[in-house]
Amino acid sequence: MKALQFDRFGSPDVIVLRDVPQPEPGPGQIRIAVRACGLTPADWHVVDGLLADQLPPLPRGLGLEVAGTVDALGDGVDGVRIGDRVFGPATFDGPTAGAAEYALMPAWAHIPDGVTAEQAAALPMAAETAWRALDDLGIQPGELLLVHGAGTTVGEAAVRFARHRGIRVIATAGPTRAAALEELGAQVTGYGEGMAERVSALAGGRVDRALDTAPTGGRIDRADQPSPAGGSLPALIELTGDPDRVLTVSDFAAAAGLGVRITTEIRYDKMDEFARLAGEGILAVPVARTYTLEQIQEAAELSQSRRPGGKLLLVL
Ligand SMILES: NC(=O)c1ccc[n+]([C@@H]2O[C@H](COP(=O)([O-])OP(=O)(O)OC[C@H]3O[C@@H](n4cnc5c(N)ncnc54)[C@H](OP(=O)(O)O)[C@@H]3O)[C@@H](O)[C@H]2O)c1
Repeated sequence: MKALQFDRFGSPDVIVLRDVPQPEPGPGQIRIAVRACGLTPADWHVVDGLLADQLPPLPRGLGLEVAGTVDALGDGVDGVRIGDRVFGPATFDGPTAGAAEYALMPAWAHIPDGVTAEQAAALPMAAETAWRALDDLGIQPGELLLVHGAGTTVGEAAVRFARHRGIRVIATAGPTRAAALEELGAQVTGYGEGMAERVSALAGGRVDRALDTAPTGGRIDRADQPSPAGGSLPALIELTGDPDRVLTVSDFAAAAGLGVRITTEIRYDKMDEFARLAGEGILAVPVARTYTLEQIQEAAELSQSRRPGGKLLLVL
């Protein structure tokens, strides 16, 4: 089968398209014929060597979230049949991952009627991160939440979930998703200079909790790598009055020094809930562009530009 693979760490130009053996599902895993694979900032961190000491030796595959048709079942798998349409995280510790003709999955849910495989492949990481971040932040219905960097796929999913949970939302975002975020019921203003004053004016004072989903330039788990977007956390602390009421999914370097909360434990136990919410139109992630496996370098360049404007997908 064809798969994107890398056998040294570095920038995305280490990624190559190869003919490789199909992976075999282990106990509790399924294999799918991939229809679409979502790209995320985490892909570039992994290619750059993140988790290198916790994963088996190279070569490794690219692609952390997928959708497609079930093709083989590992031992002990039930509740899913060959031919079913599913979406979820791809197994990424082997020589191939999601960006391949066939991929293994450790968790999944059925794609609901009315949702395409492309739309479904855009959901897993944004939904999982946003749901977990809201839970870990402890925001309650009726409270006021600030989502900073809501133009990201994670940020927009957080706005959608928060509104669905009855939470009032102020969002900071660039122009690309501003109108869409307003339609979801958020009060939207720009990030950058004067952000704290504008948010404070919209809030009429403090916000109850703040979630930072703005991308950073640093590797997500490295306290020794400064991030250019790191300047926002002090403003979020000022707006909530307490670093414990601020959580970042990205700026771990700045969080460590400020007492801001982070979330790192990925939990794919809510996949059925995400499928249900996607089927009801409550959860959706905008797809900005699609590419073939051969176009990975072009896709990587836009993904890393911090201007993707939505989810980038590899479509097979
Ligand atoms: N902790 C975890 O488990 C976890 C999991 C997934 C993702 N993450 C992190 O979460 C962040 C978002 O991921 P994503 O995949 O949702 O990102 P993404 O969609 O690729 O984010 C790109 C968007 O960010 C916005 N943006 C760019 N620069 C910004 C800035 N300085 N401040 C605010 N917004 C800015 C842009 O939208 P505008 O048009 O609004 O400017 C752009 O379209 C990344 O840092 C990622 O590494 C963490």
